Amino acid sequence: MAYRYKSDLSIRDVTPESFFINRRKLTLGFSAMAAGGLVGFNTANSEEALTETPNTLEEISGYNNYYEFGTGKGDPAKYAGALTTEPWSVKIDGMVENPGEYSLSDLLKKMVLEDRIYRFRCVEAWSMVIPWRGFELADLLEFVGVKKEAKYVAFETLLRPEEMWGQKKNYLDWPYREGLRLDEALHPLSIMATGLYGKALPNQNGAPIRLVVPWKYGFKSIKSIVRITLMEEQPRTSWSIANPREYGFYSNVNPAVDHPRWSQASERKIGSGFVAKRQPTLPFNGYGKEVASLYEGMDLQAFY
Ligand code: MTE
Repeated sequence: MAYRYKSDLSIRDVTPESFFINRRKLTLGFSAMAAGGLVGFNTANSEEALTETPNTLEEISGYNNYYEFGTGKGDPAKYAGALTTEPWSVKIDGMVENPGEYSLSDLLKKMVLEDRIYRFRCVEAWSMVIPWRGFELADLLEFVGVKKEAKYVAFETLLRPEEMWGQKKNYLDWPYREGLRLDEALHPLSIMATGLYGKALPNQNGAPIRLVVPWKYGFKSIKSIVRITLMEEQPRTSWSIANPREYGFYSNVNPAVDHPRWSQASERKIGSGFVAKRQPTLPFNGYGKEVASLYEGMDLQAFY
């Protein structure tokens, strides 16, 4: 089948943004329906009435954190265009049956052929509601075959200071690194995103492929990934290297655990205006029903 990643757009992908409805709680099964061509929404499995609309593309791509392009929220939109995102490959190594350097376009062709791509999966992360396109990280891990000794998944961003000027500064220990416990990585809410609003991912949002873990603080959602390593020991992560007291490995959204320098009990949705009232932050960012069982019996004050 001749299928080009770049020409993956159909009329459904250019549905006007006003067409989308967000379900604050993602219900599983949605991805299959979306992959099957139903666009925008599926209320059949919805547990909660839809209350929030997704953020606009302008909001999503104009207010970002991507320290490789500077520390200001407007910097990524200004500078991330310098990054060459094609061709792209992801090295998958460590405790896997089929290690290798996987071309992203081949990987996407495979996901398309197997009907594993979903077009619109609305989830809320970092006080934004974003309709992502991508596939489940679990599908990728199934494809490469995880060996039974593996307990964690480590991720790395591209290291290319000639195009990412922030990497010439020492804000963080480059390349940007993140990690998940294997069961977190296998959860269907852990997404590898390659687009949003039915279009290719803007560079400032982590093109051409980034992680989205909606029940964790935003920094876990690493951008422009070039390496995924299955490991037995817990991987080190950029933010916990930079400041272990402030940033732990788990980083689950938890209003009961304050950041040492600020409360994390409430949030203001981006785009709602600075006069808008702050709203209480929900444990696990509102996805407790789906993910709380991953942490049963753990002291989440100690494992922050
Ligand atoms: N990934 C890389 N490589 N570099 C970064 O600086 N910032 C993180 C995360 N992923 C970051 C990154 C932080 S702090 C946040 S809040 C989210 O990306 C922001 O994602 P968004 O710009 O798509 O909202």
